[in-house]
Amino acid sequence: MKNVKILVLFLAIAATFSSCIDNDESFEHNHYKDFELMERVLNIPSEGPEDYNLEFPAYYGRTSFFGKDDATLGRVMFYDTKLSADGTVSCASCHKQELAFSDDKKVSDGINNQVTNRNSLALGAVFNFQEYYGPNRVPFFWDNSIQTVEEQIPFTFAAKNEMDMSMAQIVDVMNSNDYYKPLIRAANGTDKITEQAAIRALAEFVNALGSFNSPFDQALSREVPNGLGFGVPPAVTSDFRDFSATENRGKRIYMNSCASCHGEVMGAPNVMQANNGLEITDGDFGVPGTQGEFKVPSLRNLSLTYPYMHDGRFATIEEVIEHYSTGLKNPQNIHPELQEDGQPKKFNFTDDQKSDLLAFLKTLDDEEILTDVRFSDPFKR
Ligand code: HEC
Ligand code: HEC
Repeated sequence: MKNVKILVLFLAIAATFSSCIDNDESFEHNHYKDFELMERVLNIPSEGPEDYNLEFPAYYGRTSFFGKDDATLGRVMFYDTKLSADGTVSCASCHKQELAFSDDKKVSDGINNQVTNRNSLALGAVFNFQEYYGPNRVPFFWDNSIQTVEEQIPFTFAAKNEMDMSMAQIVDVMNSNDYYKPLIRAANGTDKITEQAAIRALAEFVNALGSFNSPFDQALSREVPNGLGFGVPPAVTSDFRDFSATENRGKRIYMNSCASCHGEVMGAPNVMQANNGLEITDGDFGVPGTQGEFKVPSLRNLSLTYPYMHDGRFATIEEVIEHYSTGLKNPQNIHPELQEDGQPKKFNFTDDQKSDLLAFLKTLDDEEILTDVRFSDPFKR
């Protein structure tokens, strides 16, 4: 009798388990119709897209942003060299994951051995600017000439020295390569993709490239666990419990000398564009109509976004610190924040101050984004 009871129980458990497994399997096999078409070329899980929801650190006071399924399609586009005129360049050629989505060239290599006019910008915080700040978003490019990712994408594809492809050509390539078929169907419910839908998919991927897990983010979240609220609470500018003494000393220097432009919390900068005392060497005057004003760039993942400035003129962070310490030029046009008595400021940092500032800037590096598989190359190469 006892044995029968155990047998019944066993059968009941087995039935429960097998029904779960059945359900999971049918889900897995259904997500991408004709999955075999992409399997040979791509490392994308058959059970469906990765989760592109972004988790924000606590100090944001908002927990997540819901990414969309199209981001998987956008990820494939981002890494696809077929989307360039000579088949050698993809977005990832100049925006490499292991370099926080920047590259290590002064200027970047486009198709047919041509180069770009300026240094590649890191994409780890594009989402941050684009969606979180809403209408107060920070414009794109070193001269702030582009407003949204959707505007940037066709512009970059078409640039003769970058990828040299019209959106009509992009859509043609996508519609005639089999590995795109299941992805297009899953994202759009149609067999062919339109220009608008292609732009949207790639924009969703770029917007999902959030980088919010640096030691700075973690330490700040401990100080302000319920969100920043309005303004800059004292907890941001005073010492962090999780920082070393040198990092906190560097942070004080940053808050006094740099944050007025680059921002206290590494989100939107406080000043959108400025002349930061660089000599104009190649006739590039930055924002149209200005004498050398450029975007105030994000300093997130700074260790990996070398070389620095719009033309990559400084190879190391140490050189940048030296520039601010004693090298500021351009008395006529330099931003007031970097002037003293009508002359370029001289911070004259001591060696200790320089190494403190460097230690602080390194807390802005987010290791997580460098290996996150959701952002990695999906092609089997
Ligand atoms: C040949 C190199 C190259 C390729 C290919 C390339 N980029 Fe860029 N990207 C750059 C450079 C250089 C800049 C800075 C341009 C400027 O400021 O004038 C930039 C800037 C950007 C920005 C603005 C970031 C900001 O914070 O202002 C975004 C977004 C971007 N690229 C996304 C993409 C996407 C998406 C693709 C693929 C369609 C792509 N890039 C392909 C080199 C490249
Ligand atoms: C007046 C505003 C302003 C102040 C103050 C300021 N910066 Fe900048 N910073 C800029 C601008 C503008 C650029 C881009 C200039 C260019 O490329 O032409 C820049 C670029 C940089 C870069 C290069 C980033 C990259 O990805 O290429 C670093 C690093 C940097 N600043 C660090 C600092 C530090 C450290 C301080 C304080 C000692 C500081 N900045 C103070 C405006 C400012």
